[in-house]
Amino acid sequence: MTIFTLILAIANLLLFLSKASSIDTLTLSQSLPDGTTLVSKDETFELGFFSLRNSTNRYLGIWFKNIPVKTVVWVANRDYPLKDNSTKLIITNDGNLVLLTKNNKVQWSTNTTTKASRPILQLLNTGNLVLRNDNEDNKNNNKSSNNNNEDRFLWQSFDYPSDTLLPGMKLGWYRKTGLNRRVIAWKNWDDPSPGNFSWGITFDSNPEMVLWKGSFKYHRSGPWNGIRFSGAFGGSNRLSTHPLFVYKLINNDDEVYYSYSLTNKSVISIVVMNQTLLRRQRNIWIPENGTWRLFQTAPRDICDTYNPCGSYANCMVDSSPVCQCLEGFKPKSLDTMEQGCVRSEPWSCKVEGRDGFRKFVGLKFPDTTHSWINKSMTLEECKVKCWENCSCTAYANLDIRGAGSGCSIWFGDLIDLKVVSQSGQYLYIRMADSQTDAKDAHKKKELLLIGTIVPPIVLVILLAIFYSYKRKRKYEEENVSVVKKDEAGGQEHSMELPLFDLATLVNATNNFSTDNKLGQGGFGPVYKGVLAGGQEIAVKRLSRSSGQGLTEFKNEVILCAKLQHRNLVKVLGCCIEEEEKMLLYEYMPNKSLDSFLFG
Ligand SMILES: *[C@@H]1O[C@H](CO)[C@@H](O)[C@H](O)[C@H]1NC(C)=O
Ligand SMILES: *[C@@H]1O[C@H](CO)[C@@H](O)[C@H](O)[C@H]1NC(C)=O
Ligand SMILES: *[C@@H]1O[C@H](CO)[C@@H](O)[C@H](O)[C@H]1NC(C)=O
Ligand SMILES: *[C@@H]1O[C@H](CO)[C@@H](O)[C@H](O)[C@H]1NC(C)=O
Ligand SMILES: *[C@@H]1O[C@H](CO)[C@@H](O)[C@H](O)[C@H]1NC(C)=O
Ligand SMILES: *[C@@H]1O[C@H](CO)[C@@H](O)[C@H](O)[C@H]1NC(C)=O
Ligand SMILES: *[C@@H]1O[C@H](CO)[C@@H](O)[C@H](O)[C@H]1NC(C)=O
Ligand SMILES: *[C@@H]1O[C@H](CO)[C@@H](O)[C@H](O)[C@H]1NC(C)=O
Ligand SMILES: *[C@@H]1O[C@H](CO)[C@@H](O)[C@H](O)[C@H]1NC(C)=O
Ligand SMILES: *[C@@H]1O[C@H](CO)[C@@H](O)[C@H](O)[C@H]1NC(C)=O
Repeated sequence: MTIFTLILAIANLLLFLSKASSIDTLTLSQSLPDGTTLVSKDETFELGFFSLRNSTNRYLGIWFKNIPVKTVVWVANRDYPLKDNSTKLIITNDGNLVLLTKNNKVQWSTNTTTKASRPILQLLNTGNLVLRNDNEDNKNNNKSSNNNNEDRFLWQSFDYPSDTLLPGMKLGWYRKTGLNRRVIAWKNWDDPSPGNFSWGITFDSNPEMVLWKGSFKYHRSGPWNGIRFSGAFGGSNRLSTHPLFVYKLINNDDEVYYSYSLTNKSVISIVVMNQTLLRRQRNIWIPENGTWRLFQTAPRDICDTYNPCGSYANCMVDSSPVCQCLEGFKPKSLDTMEQGCVRSEPWSCKVEGRDGFRKFVGLKFPDTTHSWINKSMTLEECKVKCWENCSCTAYANLDIRGAGSGCSIWFGDLIDLKVVSQSGQYLYIRMADSQTDAKDAHKKKELLLIGTIVPPIVLVILLAIFYSYKRKRKYEEENVSVVKKDEAGGQEHSMELPLFDLATLVNATNNFSTDNKLGQGGFGPVYKGVLAGGQEIAVKRLSRSSGQGLTEFKNEVILCAKLQHRNLVKVLGCCIEEEEKMLLYEYMPNKSLDSFLFG
């Protein structure tokens, strides 16, 4: 009989132990000592104590249970490492988590103030560790509805992210309490304490995602345009229509946050901050290879970092020079592009003929720190709103879906711009009337008027004469001689730019073969070439559809000429023949782009 009870007791104990080894909850009366773990119901995540490589420090954290490469996604005591393995995790009566050493010393604790009754701790399938009141579940037997209801949580780890954003986590603000969920990189891979590389959402009227290096902005997503962040590359908006990821930005009275989810629940993907590289990386787990694969990274390149070119400039990583003033703007300083650009014609607020807007296509929207929005205004109302305020410098639709809606206006200099697509996302920048589309439309109207008055035949003859004359002139002088203003005296002197013929460039670039293509800039492809003498060159071939007309071409030549004496990028010449317009630069190996910008 006694043996039987003993066997029964042992069986019970074994049953209890096997159960205990894979429980997902912890109650008031229980504790979680170092060496034991909680495992989420679907066995995806595990909570427990761990050490890192050489260090003897112990941390409480959450990692993927079924991934052979230990990937810690959350650390409780980032700043308070445990010195030995005698610590245990307990729940207090007032509903807080506490790490207690063997001398009953509190090493780390949460500090919620919500009133708790019989709190329990649970590791959810999402990787969220939550503290909630137990009794509610017992009262109405509807666990599914209560378990994952955020409002009922006394505390949740998702509100205090470490360096990883999991699907379903919210990055951003809960307005009522001022809770700001940010993701901060580990100092290094042996030390989970917070580094100085972080990711969060700005609390401006028009929120954006920002990566910070210390207190400096390092990368900016651009504001949400209804479909994607306006800085996301490509008009085809690869980001928002990716079959695996669903991204959203929620901005309402209660909260403003970014989050993402996966359409395929069996795929594992995380976003993690890498302090060593200063990159935010999206990784996907490849089970058959047993490794994480890098899927996306930010910032992608120099032009994707914060404001590399200064105000009113476009940054194109594969063109040379990398920084170029927007149409209608010129470099602020002749010495360097880094200070950005200013309007090439003076602008006067609300003065007829000296105040208008020019439409820019596909620009990443400027930094929204000094901006204002209204969700219900039309574009026309938006324009008026901007025009009325002399510190307003640009306006745009807040939401570009369909015909566009809402109003977003900017004050002060526009910074951190770059062309990200060839269509959509229109930004209207304030500048002198002569530089705006309104003026162009005016001209067109005048032409139309003349056309109706002057007999068409006469016009055709006149045009024919004019055209052949212009063609001749254009070829002979216009683009060959560049006028350069001297910085000191403002004295003008001419600078000859060698003119290359098309055949030479066709030879040098092997007939613009794709093998020689260095990249695709906003205005056309760039090719590498070798001149007959052996000199390496880069040839920018302005595409016919680029919209970069003769004026812009001239501007670029002038800009290059200005930069030339600093030896930043040497422009060797140009080529204008038939429909082709090309610029020749000295070839710069990729790495010198960095030194060009940040050197
Ligand atoms: C870890 O310890 C080994 C031997 O003690 C040492 O060679 C190695 O450099 C250490 N690694 C780090 C990252 O500290
Ligand atoms: C705790 O640390 C001691 C001394 O370092 C070691 O002997 C023991 O195995 C450790 N126990 C666990 C559960 O890791
Ligand atoms: C707890 O509260 C203190 C003071 O209000 C605060 O400094 C600390 O960051 C809080 N700790 C946690 C884990 O929230
Ligand atoms: C439990 O909650 C879910 C979701 O709120 C609801 O659809 C379901 O009808 C509820 N079941 C019971 C038994 O109340
Ligand atoms: C960030 O930390 C690294 C080392 O951890 C340091 O070299 C760098 O200067 C810091 N940057 C800022 C902006 O604080
Ligand atoms: C989801 O992903 C798994 C693993 O990659 C794959 O086997 C499965 O076909 C995917 N399911 C769908 C619906 O795409
Ligand atoms: C961060 O970058 C370093 C250097 O390439 C790499 O070894 C490390 O695995 C990266 N960390 C993560 C979490 O991807
Ligand atoms: C797995 O690794 C092999 C060899 O490194 C590579 O060719 C293959 O593309 C990888 N598979 C996936 C799905 O990335
Ligand atoms: C937004 O614009 C609408 C329509 O012009 C106007 O009725 C509303 O008052 C504006 N809201 C704010 C906050 O200015
Ligand atoms: C223009 O806008 C700025 C920034 O919102 C504001 O401070 C200023 O008062 C406005 N000026 C006028 C005349 O409305």
